[in-house]
Amino acid sequence: MTRALVTGGAGFLGRNLSERLQADGYEVVALDNLSSASPLGVPDGVEFIEGDVIEPPEIAGRFTHIYHFASPASPPRYLTDPIGTMRTGAEGTRHMLEWAERDDAVFTFASTSEIYGDPLEHPQQESYFGNVDITSPRACYDEAKRYAEALVHAFHRSGRHTRTRIVRVFNTYGPGMSPDDGRVVSNFLVQAIKGEPMTIQGDGTQTRSFCYVDDLIEGIIRLSRSEVALPVNLGNPNEITMLELADRVAEIAGDPGKVFTDLPQSDPKIRRPDISRAVELLDWKPVVELADGLVETHQYFKQVLAG
Ligand SMILES: NC(=O)c1ccc[n+]([C@@H]2O[C@H](COP(=O)([O-])OP(=O)(O)OC[C@H]3O[C@@H](n4cnc5c(N)ncnc54)[C@H](O)[C@@H]3O)[C@@H](O)[C@H]2O)c1
Repeated sequence: MTRALVTGGAGFLGRNLSERLQADGYEVVALDNLSSASPLGVPDGVEFIEGDVIEPPEIAGRFTHIYHFASPASPPRYLTDPIGTMRTGAEGTRHMLEWAERDDAVFTFASTSEIYGDPLEHPQQESYFGNVDITSPRACYDEAKRYAEALVHAFHRSGRHTRTRIVRVFNTYGPGMSPDDGRVVSNFLVQAIKGEPMTIQGDGTQTRSFCYVDDLIEGIIRLSRSEVALPVNLGNPNEITMLELADRVAEIAGDPGKVFTDLPQSDPKIRRPDISRAVELLDWKPVVELADGLVETHQYFKQVLAG
């Protein structure tokens, strides 16, 4: 019997992961405080428990797998609750690791490309230590995830044999995102659907690499079933500027024009995963083209906004 606890299971990635686990025959329980839940909510058939990983409730029965995905995840969310973000990364991760140890469950942690900060190495390999400004407002998220990763390694090495997996998630998009999430793909698509100009931060030459959610979930499943305790980058190495992304969105959703605002402090200028480790150890690479993923996500947002 495989039974998974998905923290953050009502969120964008957590609900997509829960759906996949269910399809693979797992019994799934989602634990979420609903602070930034997906408009689609928890998939049918998944048991939902409202609660916070900082002070988790008791849940009866043993879990064979714990996927720890709960965290404020987009800048507007973590910048408005920096202390809650750090507590979620620190206290929440410790509670979930202790739970995994107690249940002898495989523990998979959603880390982030943000641990590389504003990178001085490009593309980013897992061996890169990162360039995070600890005094910047974003540090609440970046450092919480860095601490959480170190804690996962500590549990793994402690002799208590916790089976741990760490996925460093690079920018991922797709159905299930919140329209008001504040990430660039959702911002541009929602603005285009509403006929409002797309907001470009800075001059729009900064780059990101966008992975479609189905590709990411496949990678997470492969990682959690592997024996790989090292951190693994999962993302799509196709890198584009924000100006190019706006043009791609305009081709699909119509062109509402662009407005330019200041670049946020410590915003990474470039971002692209080196996925050699995932290719080699998990035989994984993304297969969904950005154009196809954007069409799916555009359809999804049109339905969500139509209410
Ligand atoms: N989507 C991405 O591109 C991306 C990139 C890097 C890392 N990640 C990581 O993946 C995970 C999921 O991100 P997402 O994109 O699905 O974001 P999301 O905001 O859609 O989902 C996060 C979920 O966690 C819940 N949550 C937040 N704090 C909680 C707490 N203390 N206790 C219980 N529940 C809590 C929220 O209500 C939400 O449902 C996060 O840990 C995030 O840091 C995501």
